[in-house]
This record gives sequence, C-alpha cells and structure tokens, in this order.
Amino acid sequence: MKQKNLLYTGKAKSVFRTDVKGKLIVEFRDDITAFDGGKKDTLKNKGSYNASVSAFFFSHLEKNGVKTHFLEMLDDHRMLVRELSMIPLEVIVRNFAAGSIVKNYPFKEGSPLKPPVIVIDYKDDSRHDPMLNDDLIAALRLVTPAELKKIKVIALKVNVLLSKLLAKQGITLVDFKIEFGRQGKTIYLGDEISMDSMRLWDKKSGESLDKDVYRFNKGDVMVTYNQVAARIINNPKSATSKKIAALTKKILIVKKGK
Ligand code: ATP
Ligand code: TYD
Repeated sequence: MKQKNLLYTGKAKSVFRTDVKGKLIVEFRDDITAFDGGKKDTLKNKGSYNASVSAFFFSHLEKNGVKTHFLEMLDDHRMLVRELSMIPLEVIVRNFAAGSIVKNYPFKEGSPLKPPVIVIDYKDDSRHDPMLNDDLIAALRLVTPAELKKIKVIALKVNVLLSKLLAKQGITLVDFKIEFGRQGKTIYLGDEISMDSMRLWDKKSGESLDKDVYRFNKGDVMVTYNQVAARIINNPKSATSKKIAALTKKILIVKKGK
C-alpha cells in the first residue's frame, strides 16, 4: 500500500490517495483547534491518541454491525479507510445538556436528555455549520428521507454501543459528533470518533476528559488525552484488535518515558 497525493487537508486531519482504488489514508495530525478555528495549537502525540481511540471505537462498532470506513491502522497516526463521498452533515447525539445547547436553549448544564437528542448541522465552515431540520435536509437534497432515517438509526445505535463501552470505564458519554459518507449506495460511518469529537465526563468526579479541557483551559489537555486513551483502550475485557492495542501501548510508553 503506497501513500499518494494529498487529497484534502482539514483542521486536524489530512487525507491522501493510495495506489489502491477506493482506499484512502487519513492522517491524524497533532493540530488541535476550537471555536471555529479561532484557537489553534500543535501538541505532540495528539494525533496518535485520537487515531487510536477512533480505531478502537470503529472496530467495536464494526463488531456490532455498524458499517464504518475503518480498515486498519498503518502506524500510530495513519488510518487506512474506505474512500467515501462525504455527506456534509454533522450528526450530533446528546445524552446530557452541555455546550451549545446550554448556550442556546434553556437547559441546565448536565441535565439528562431522555430520549437522547439528535441535532444535525450543515458542515460548511464558511456558514459556521448552521443547524438543519428534516425539511431543510430534504430541500437541500443532501440525503433522501429514507437515508436520513437510516442515519438517525445508526447514530442512536452508535450512542448505545459507545455509552455502554465507556460506562464500563467509569466514563459518561455526554455527547458526540459523527459524519457519514457513501460508497456506491451504502452509507458508512466516516471521519473520526475521538476526544476531539465527543464530550466525556468522569462518572465519579464529573471532570472533563475531552477537548473541553483545551477549549476552556481546564488543565493539560495532553495529560487528559493520554490518560483517557489508556482508560478507553486498555480494557482487558474488550475484543479490540491486538494491532491497535499494541500501537497505543507504544504511544503511551513513549509518552510515559518523557
Ligand atoms: P471539521 O473539523 O469541522 O470536521 P475539517 O474538514 O477541518 O472539518 P478534518 O478532520 O481536519 O476536518 O478533515 C478531515 C476531512 O476528511 C473531513 O472533511 C472529512 O469529512 C473527510 N473524511 C473523513 N473520512 C473520509 C473518508 N472515508 N473518505 C473521504 N473523506 C473523508
Ligand atoms: P456542541 O455543543 O454543539 O458544540 P461546541 O462543543 O462547539 O459547543 O458540540 C456537541 C458535540 O459535538 C461535542 O462533543 C463536540 C462535537 N462537535 C464536533 O466535534 N464538531 C463540531 O463541529 C460540532 C458542532 C460539534
């Protein structure tokens, strides 16, 4: 498998073509951004933590019947994926009120949302990712009503699977964002699922274990990412692939030795 030309470079990842049709390499860079790119930094090893946690979650989801773009980890920050035609939707699932919905609606921070709330934004940085509804999604012809239904079902399934997995590690899945894409007519889960795209709270202390540490200067975000990656992945009961566990162990050892 050879890495070929750069196809796209985003805020935290770069996407490369390969010499194999239909397969791409996603490189998780060490860049971190918040507030629509208003706050930016480069933090050593950050990309590897997100790559490993994403790979771990994708593997778990695949084992439980969710189709994802994940194929394999090539090294600690590069993931081989199926090439998708990305659907410009940011599908957010919320179990507890936090972040923008507390700012925009009369929810108390941390109040449970039962059933979970799905919010879908239009992925367009130039428009600051405005929120959509089903009618707007249909009018914009982004997906068919049947596809939208399917996307919501998958999002809720991902929520149940990841909430259970994280609960075993004493972590509450507060909310997360996922993206989907098509290969042919099949819809796959793409992009990443990591500390950058989720809100995670320690069940006992309530402390943030995600990008909020960076957003709101709550501490050393790399210490948090290191610890939370170890907590999520080094689960002896989990059936994660040996390769991901080995790669992550390598990152954690390198970090510990510093
Ligand atoms: P944001 O941070 O708002 O998600 P971005 O475009 O800056 O936006 P990055 O994560 O840096 O985000 O870039 C990765 C890009 O690769 C995204 O545009 C994402 O939609 C795209 N992408 C993810 N998975 C695939 C895939 N399997 N095939 C094609 N493109 C993909
Ligand atoms: P949200 O509260 O809407 O935004 P913010 O965190 O910027 O106040 O975010 C809900 C969850 O979705 C949170 O875990 C972060 C994630 N998310 C992204 O990863 N990318 C995005 O562009 C958005 C809007 C949210």
